[in-house]
Amino acid sequence: MDITGITIHTRFTLIKKLTDGLVGSIYLAHFVEKKEEPVMVKIFRDDITSKRTGDILRYRRALSIVAKLNHPNLIRILDYGEIFELQYIVFENFRGTSLSEILKKPDCSIGRIIDIIIQICRALECIHQNGVIQKDLNPENVMIDTNDISDGDTVKLADSGVAHIIDFSELMAKTKDIPDLINYFSPEQSGLIKRHVDERSDMYSLGVIFYRLLTGKLPFAADESFLFTRQNAEERPELPGRLNPSVPPILDRIVLKLLETEPENRYQSAKGLLHDIDRYKNGDREFKLGLNDESIKLSYRTELISRNGELMRLKNLFDRAREGMGCVCLISGEAGTGKTRLIEELHDYIYSQKAVIIQGKCF
Ligand SMILES: Nc1ncnc2c1ncn2[C@@H]1O[C@H](COP(=O)(O)OP(=O)(O)OP(=O)(O)O)[C@@H](O)[C@H]1O
Ligand SMILES: [Mg+2]
Repeated sequence: MDITGITIHTRFTLIKKLTDGLVGSIYLAHFVEKKEEPVMVKIFRDDITSKRTGDILRYRRALSIVAKLNHPNLIRILDYGEIFELQYIVFENFRGTSLSEILKKPDCSIGRIIDIIIQICRALECIHQNGVIQKDLNPENVMIDTNDISDGDTVKLADSGVAHIIDFSELMAKTKDIPDLINYFSPEQSGLIKRHVDERSDMYSLGVIFYRLLTGKLPFAADESFLFTRQNAEERPELPGRLNPSVPPILDRIVLKLLETEPENRYQSAKGLLHDIDRYKNGDREFKLGLNDESIKLSYRTELISRNGELMRLKNLFDRAREGMGCVCLISGEAGTGKTRLIEELHDYIYSQKAVIIQGKCF
């Protein structure tokens, strides 16, 4: 559908359709009162926007926050609402291309890559501090203006908060090829581990972007059955320095920390990463990572403590069951001694072996 020419809520007119993207179309437009200042309007595809009240409320809450933010690394949201029952967002007109264009011919120097990562990280720091998660951080929503080479690139993050309204399972079902954005999903987002998605999920996605900029490759690539096998919870990516010899070991460590499977083991905040990158920029090449990191949210979940033996036994039983020697295993213990937690840990292993878990409760 092309709705060029219409004026939305008597406020702005759509002048020209620019692209048909994965989740919606982008139009060049202008406000009725300020014709000289072009803006961008994104109109979402109806069939992939969520109709669930919870999603719509979360989306509106996130947008109401992001629309008030004025940060040099965030594309400004000027307006949002509904037209013909379709969600739309009006953005500032930012000249430049998306990072995915840059990735098509990856020839960036380490210095330039660091500069791009710092700017994305500052944008994440700003939205996270305001309680918004990007959730779909990938090269398509990182915009770069390379025009002013003397000043370096200007990087701006687009679509913050928008992911709440995208029905990703519908999107997958309706898209022929697996969209690239799946490759940037954190393990908790893809369902590989059973954890809530929070700010640390964005840190993981940033790690994938960082890895790709440094090496030209993805740390883990999706395959057609990505829902179960996108990545192995215990598999580690190849060190970036092995693929690109100009990457120093300290950057290998930083990138791998971002790509940790368990959110607890990653950088907990954009601030923590910015601090370490700053040390790197100042010439420090050997230091303990995450010293200036801090958790944005209080979490009472720690790593699994002294249950390695039990976990190993459960994994062995599972391996034997796969070979046709199934059995029943009962786990007993006083209330609160960690039965449920032990089984949760086993989930990660089972998913990584491309198997399925069926759960039920007896009352
Ligand atoms: N080995 C462990 N290492 C780290 N944290 C643990 C461990 N065992 C339990 N915990 C934590 O202790 C709390 C209670 O554990 P859990 O809910 O698994 O106990 P439970 O035996 O299933 O209790 P209930 O009998 O009430 O169902 C949880 O917060 C869990 O994350
Ligand atoms: Mg329990």
